[in-house]
Amino acid sequence: MVWKDVCIKGFQNFTTRGRSEANYAFGKMSPDWMTVAEGPKWKRIRNTIVPFFSGVRLKETCLILQDTYEHYDEKFITTEEVEAKDFSAGYTLRSILGSGYSLNAKENNDLVEEVYRHSNILFATDFFGSLATLIIPRWLRFKLNMTSYPSSTDKFFRDIIAQLMESGNKGRTNLVSLMASHVIDDSEMNTATKGFTKDEIVAQALLFQLAGQDTTATVMSFLLFALSKTPSVQNDIYNLVKDNDLSYDELKKIKFIDACIKETQRFFTFLMLMREADQDCEVAGVKIEKGNLLMFLPFAVHKNSEYYEDPNTFNPHRFDGNESNTLQDDYWFGFGIGPRSCPAVRWAFVAIKVFIANVIKNYEILPGEGTPEIDEIEMKFVGTQVKTTKPMNIRFKKRA
Ligand code: HEM
Repeated sequence: MVWKDVCIKGFQNFTTRGRSEANYAFGKMSPDWMTVAEGPKWKRIRNTIVPFFSGVRLKETCLILQDTYEHYDEKFITTEEVEAKDFSAGYTLRSILGSGYSLNAKENNDLVEEVYRHSNILFATDFFGSLATLIIPRWLRFKLNMTSYPSSTDKFFRDIIAQLMESGNKGRTNLVSLMASHVIDDSEMNTATKGFTKDEIVAQALLFQLAGQDTTATVMSFLLFALSKTPSVQNDIYNLVKDNDLSYDELKKIKFIDACIKETQRFFTFLMLMREADQDCEVAGVKIEKGNLLMFLPFAVHKNSEYYEDPNTFNPHRFDGNESNTLQDDYWFGFGIGPRSCPAVRWAFVAIKVFIANVIKNYEILPGEGTPEIDEIEMKFVGTQVKTTKPMNIRFKKRA
């Protein structure tokens, strides 16, 4: 598979997703983001963060996610029809705030609503429209603190993360508190192999929102919608969860929900992958010049009948026996591939699993009036958010 040759075997020639100036449109925080950082700085940030998603940590995080589900169930699951993406966005935001900042939605409702408002501003930003500002030299944009989204939103996020760090960020272990326990001095930035400077912590905290919020909500919304249209799959899940306490250890054993998540990402592929050549090289006999950008559309593999039997049918059982998200699959690229793949894949699976397992234990998921069929769903981008051309309405019916 050529793409593996590029991203894994050829990683030394393709270490970034691209060095375009657009990487810096989000302002002076962006050079510190793991997505943009390169070389030893990227390695240091990534190596420090990856253990935060270990099994032991996720077991603690799972308690936060369970609380988030309960709160969401009490407040937002009604008999009214809801649009699956808007509905999922509310849950994933609260999950990220809980797991990332220990910001409990139950106790801090007003603040959570305010974060939600600002997140929507972030995601609704006309990113492509704002690229015009890139004519201004980077140093000047940074000096003037120019960002592609309103400066009031930039200030809001900076202030809130700074406050959390200052207050000692009490509560359950969370990503900001874990990062805060690995602070290094600015002077160690080029020598340390672990840890973050204070600015890097603020940057990663905002990045978690940006990289994790819409992606997780999109996958969860497609899954909820697909389940509303496939009662037999829902029933298979119900049989696995109905007599289960859904603790972290028990959830881990329910592999079929992992298969449903994988199938959702295969069926509704919304991401593309990119790598830039660091030097002249050759891939599969093709000469690549330094600076060339390679783009890969996982969609083309995910919907190819050479790799998937009956690819236009939503059938999670195709992953029976190969449910886990090890990133080792030859033909499944839901979270990317190689050393630049998504570091939070395990968190995303647990967050979605907690919701799906709990909701199916308690409710039936039904399609709303006049919703399109699964294979009629078309995606579109609004700002940087993934939406669908027709709403994916669903409703919940309490189980007897
Ligand atoms: C279902 C949810 C998610 C999906 C589908 C997803 C998908 C992806 C993909 C496709 C990439 C690019 C991989 C590549 O180029 O090979 C990526 C990178 C990344 N993701 Fe995720 N992601 C999700 C959730 C999250 C969450 C929750 C976070 C943070 C808490 C996160 C943080 C990141 C970061 C920091 C990178 C860049 C890694 C690097 O450059 O080294 N993602 N993600």
